[in-house]
Amino acid sequence: MKIIPVELGRRSYAIYLKSGLFGELGRLYRRHELGEQVAVITDRTVHKLYGAQALRSLKAAGLRAQLIPVPAGESSKSLAWADRLYERLIRTGVDREATIIALGGGVVGDLAGFVAASYLRGIAFVQLPTTLVGQVDSAIGGKTGLNHRLGKNLIGAYHQPRFVLIDPEFLTSLPPGEWRSGWAEVLKYALIQDAELFAQLEALPPGKVLSADAELLTGIIAHCCRIKASIVSEDEREAGRRELLNFGHTIGHALEAVTGYRRFRHGEAVAWGMLAAAWLSREQGLLAQEPWGRIERLLSSFELPRDLSGCEDEALTAAMRRDKKSRGGQIRLVLLSDIGQAIRGQAAGDAELRRAFGYLRSRAAGS
Ligand SMILES: NC(=O)c1ccc[n+]([C@@H]2O[C@H](COP(=O)([O-])OP(=O)(O)OC[C@H]3O[C@@H](n4cnc5c(N)ncnc54)[C@H](O)[C@@H]3O)[C@@H](O)[C@H]2O)c1
Ligand SMILES: [Zn+2]
Repeated sequence: MKIIPVELGRRSYAIYLKSGLFGELGRLYRRHELGEQVAVITDRTVHKLYGAQALRSLKAAGLRAQLIPVPAGESSKSLAWADRLYERLIRTGVDREATIIALGGGVVGDLAGFVAASYLRGIAFVQLPTTLVGQVDSAIGGKTGLNHRLGKNLIGAYHQPRFVLIDPEFLTSLPPGEWRSGWAEVLKYALIQDAELFAQLEALPPGKVLSADAELLTGIIAHCCRIKASIVSEDEREAGRRELLNFGHTIGHALEAVTGYRRFRHGEAVAWGMLAAAWLSREQGLLAQEPWGRIERLLSSFELPRDLSGCEDEALTAAMRRDKKSRGGQIRLVLLSDIGQAIRGQAAGDAELRRAFGYLRSRAAGS
């Protein structure tokens, strides 16, 4: 088993990573100083696949456990669903010593994490990510949150999990689009700080990733976890280096918001956002032609959804201004100076952004 520490003083915790580890959930839980009562929040898809097994493992360890499913999909990351969860927790007598386990992708992790951060002023929380996005990114680092109809992740809290259990076997049931979405976050780490990982991904395009051997995949997940853990340890509250993790996200979130969170998976929108940010990096003379060509080639192999209808310049820039990362109305982006080297806080003017959106539209139209 790989154990990757996330160093945060008294709130430090471990990421446990091993194929088949899900079967040991109850036993692993028992190794931590956590209460006897557990509420497993999951989505209906994951519930059908893995709910019974989670409950069995927790009950076998002598714990009082219940499963609470929410609908699958981004729309569950809402105050309305948080409210339903609070009600269920109150009605079933979940107390301050209890633990919430998030069993699912980033949606469940963000929602369950936010509920854990706020219920009874905060109770313990464990992450059990079942998507690639969750395993390399969202389950680590303690950002939890909900969407507001005016924007994504506008409501939230920092609440670190007590441990993170990663079992790559969950990914065997993941549909291809979800793989692509996770692969985009993996590529993000490569672009912002790991040229070697980028070269590895070039040799393993997303079409082939489904058949990637388990050991290689586990290695890549561990590698991404280490990068995220090191960034979070250094800058938990995003006052500096953690901003780099937003590469591709300011534009990606705008695409998600403008299309009502329905057309693109998170990672797919981020992949378009990374392409636009790399394009802007080249336009600003920060990124040379050769690395730009490699980035464009790799992202083009992603088979992203190409329908950008309705993604007009005005709507996108307005959504970007509402993003929590904009300051005083000025849109600032993470840009690249090379593969594996990112620079944060780069200002982007409206005219420049319009040209970048124009570039995306022409790519999407297949030219
Ligand atoms: N908190 C953070 O730091 C952070 C980081 C990145 C992303 N996020 C958030 O995460 C969300 C995206 O997460 P996601 O991509 O995991 O989406 P998701 O949670 O919606 O999961 C994607 C789909 O896969 C299904 N699924 C999950 N596990 C499965 C499995 N093992 N087999 C089959 N199907 C499975 C789900 O039911 C869902 O339909 C976004 O809301 C994003 O904002 C948060
Ligand atoms: Zn992301």
